[in-house]
Amino acid sequence: MANLIDGRAIAEKVYVDLRREIAKLKSQGVTPGLAVVLVGDNPASRAYVRSKDKMSRELGLHSVKLELPAATTQAELLARVEELNRDPAIHGILVQSPPPKQIDEAAIVRALDPRKDVDGFHPENVAKLVSAAADGFVPCTPLGIQRLLIESKIDISGAHVVILGRSMIVGKPLALLLMQKGKGGDATVTVVHSRSRNLEKITRSADILIAAIGRANFVKSGHVRDGAVIVDVGINRVEDATSERGYRLAGDVAFDEVAKKAAAITPVPGGVGPMTIAMLMSNTVKACRQLL
Ligand code: GUN
Repeated sequence: MANLIDGRAIAEKVYVDLRREIAKLKSQGVTPGLAVVLVGDNPASRAYVRSKDKMSRELGLHSVKLELPAATTQAELLARVEELNRDPAIHGILVQSPPPKQIDEAAIVRALDPRKDVDGFHPENVAKLVSAAADGFVPCTPLGIQRLLIESKIDISGAHVVILGRSMIVGKPLALLLMQKGKGGDATVTVVHSRSRNLEKITRSADILIAAIGRANFVKSGHVRDGAVIVDVGINRVEDATSERGYRLAGDVAFDEVAKKAAAITPVPGGVGPMTIAMLMSNTVKACRQLL
């Protein structure tokens, strides 16, 4: 049976360091500020935004939660982003993805002050990730996964990491991060996706398999080599009449059968999710420090 990688416990370790840094900034008269913007009422997005706001408050950050109606126009959203760019009490800005369809998300991301772009989605920060510039922002989920592996003492250097999924939020930035030179990097990275041929053959050669395709229980024991490390990024809502909410959360990995083969595995919930939020807090503190 695999070791369980406890994302909540590792996130707590991150918070110990962050609390110390926040106290230091406050003693210098600055409180890191995070603005989280939600457009519309997607239930999953609402839940994520609520968690982010709650954690900011718990850490004593200045937290602003902007909830805008589903009919918000591009111009209205741009105006709000520009206000936040100018607001000296705000160091980090996040616009929850995906926005409603009338919104041009790429244009909104380009309008963000890159120094406040704690999601790491702005082209300037993407370029900084490619060139490994230390002052850029790396997207929170990839950063959280890297930290999870480092804290769990899993060797990344020289390992074959197979990433399932090529999104701008997870797959692509994660590939760049794990192939960087140095600590937490030096991996041999393969990215596979819905169009990949011989997908099982490739995933079976992974020392570390990271599933980020957004399909419940997609990764089966046949995809996995004995002794591999499995990171499950999926947060899928599947119907469940026996649950009070009418659904339960399932990862991208068929946990029970894969856990029998793996050396270590992240659960859903309680694996990658808590790390993503911890890295958002960490990026906000970094933004504040760099804006001083
Ligand atoms: N939607 C899913 N993950 C994320 C994320 O990390 N940031 C933002 N802004 N939206 C998301």
